[in-house]
Amino acid sequence: MARLNDNYLKLKAGYLFPEIGRRVKAFAEANPEAKLIRLGIGDVTRPLAPVVVKAFHAGIDELAQTKTFHGYGPEQGYDWLIKTIIEKSYQPLGVDLKLSEVFISDGSKCDTANILDIFDLGNRVAICDPVYPVYNDTNVMIGRSGEADEKGYYQGLVYMPCTAENQFSPAFPTEKIDLIYLCYPNNPTGAVASRAQLQGWVDYARANEAIILFDAAYEAFITEADIPHSIYEIPGAKDCAVEFRSFSKTAGFTGVRCGLTVVPETLMAATASGEKIALNRLWNRRQCTKFNGVSYPVQRAAAAVYSEEGWGQVKETIDFYMENARLIRQGLGDAGITCFGGVNAPYIWLKTPGGMASWEFFDKLLSECHVVGTPGSGFGPSGEGYFRLSAFGERDNVIEAIKRFRAQWGQ
Ligand code: MLT
Repeated sequence: MARLNDNYLKLKAGYLFPEIGRRVKAFAEANPEAKLIRLGIGDVTRPLAPVVVKAFHAGIDELAQTKTFHGYGPEQGYDWLIKTIIEKSYQPLGVDLKLSEVFISDGSKCDTANILDIFDLGNRVAICDPVYPVYNDTNVMIGRSGEADEKGYYQGLVYMPCTAENQFSPAFPTEKIDLIYLCYPNNPTGAVASRAQLQGWVDYARANEAIILFDAAYEAFITEADIPHSIYEIPGAKDCAVEFRSFSKTAGFTGVRCGLTVVPETLMAATASGEKIALNRLWNRRQCTKFNGVSYPVQRAAAAVYSEEGWGQVKETIDFYMENARLIRQGLGDAGITCFGGVNAPYIWLKTPGGMASWEFFDKLLSECHVVGTPGSGFGPSGEGYFRLSAFGERDNVIEAIKRFRAQWGQ
């Protein structure tokens, strides 16, 4: 009989968000009259910007004519989109990239998982705790870990706790690490890294010949000046970091699918015999073999995000979500609940009232307030006792959710 990949059996029963979906569905079926407010999964609710929609339509119209039809595009993405991203999104930060260093993809979730293809299984990997579950689970799936212990830590992976006690900023690992995942602005805690903190990580990585896998999916939500939007704003980062970005939250593309990964040509890793090879070459080879590029109209839509009018419209939506975040923070504060994040990220990370366990609070919030959030422990053992609310809701729902919180927990 064919053998399965045993590593999958080490995983907890289900991926976090489908598990939440399952519980919410069961509750909704049993309580059809309940008006549920969903602030759980970070899924956008506002429509695409009009300029983006127009470009999307125009891209489809081109496919409708023999003369303007496009079949397979370049696996790395069209040059005109890559050039626009470099000019509009990186150069203003003082970061110059070559066209060959940017790879357009169908999203950063896939890329943060797929990047493991080009690294040896023997690499020691460090991840934050709590963390976006994809980094942890994909390392388990690929066979880099042993079984999970009773707390949920997988043998062989190195966890860096991020709690209120260390301002959600992990200490450097004390053991030798080869790959480090960092996500800033952070999902789930909403924390950001200052320039000095990121410089610390770059210095650490270079000193240890480690590589940082930097997830910047939420960079567009930074509101405070001087918080870096890209790891490449930090001197030396091109020698030690891959960066992932996404149009999902920035421009409402969660259902459209588009992201990008930057692999600088100066980023090296070693062969078994110690020879240094550029990872850009390997990632390109991987993408050309396993990926056929993002659809033409989607890339046209993505490019429109960076037109002056497009960015104005996209920014309006980002500001709308960040106003939601501000209202949630204020409402929780008024109800006496300690919360973090929500200033440079669309996530509010709160301490559960009365020290309730995360899933207990999830069930209480669902059954008594009809509000859906995400249990902190679903992001890792150090998330226990915390809870995440997303700011991607409609305004009326956010206001109503705050009202319900205050009625339940306010003085
Ligand atoms: C989240 O809620 O953490 C995100 O929506 C998940 C994702 O981006 O894949």
